[in-house]
Amino acid sequence: MKIAVYPGSFDPFTNGHENIIERSVKVFDQVIVAVAHNTTKKTIFTVEERVEILNEVFKNRDDVKVDYFEGLLVEYIKKMGTNVVLRGMRTVSDFEFEMQMALANKTLSSELETVFMVTDSEFSHISSSVIKEVVSLNGSASHMVPEIVEKRLREKLLRS
Ligand code: PNS
Repeated sequence: MKIAVYPGSFDPFTNGHENIIERSVKVFDQVIVAVAHNTTKKTIFTVEERVEILNEVFKNRDDVKVDYFEGLLVEYIKKMGTNVVLRGMRTVSDFEFEMQMALANKTLSSELETVFMVTDSEFSHISSSVIKEVVSLNGSASHMVPEIVEKRLREKLLRS
């Protein structure tokens, strides 16, 4: 069984992330969406909230599993019995960071392979900072995030 781990902050999870997952399950038998629990990074949603949202989005899919990890990604990947990390790339500006991360991970674990998938062009403009700004100014983010994400973002950002 070919398993890929798709790690990220997913704060929030976007239609661009969903696009990568929908396409990657045609290449891999199972995709594990792994939410990074980074205690030093300030996030809108807690790791539990992000996992809960993702579980809701993928509740009807057997080929997508939702999980979280702490610490080094390479250790988590090994624990999941695979050597494949999947990352989406939106534009050329993503490339530098992604390449650095892929090389750092390869240094930490030589058998690890990073597979990149280019996000479909209609999603390439979507970023978490744009989404946060639009929602905090009471605009519609329905073309950028799944319905449940928009609802939960409104609850968080427009609460006060
Ligand atoms: O969605 P993001 O924020 O671009 O995801 C980045 C993430 C979480 C995949 C990356 O920061 C990561 O793998 N963090 C875990 C710590 C780690 O393994 N660092 C070394 C590789 S750079």
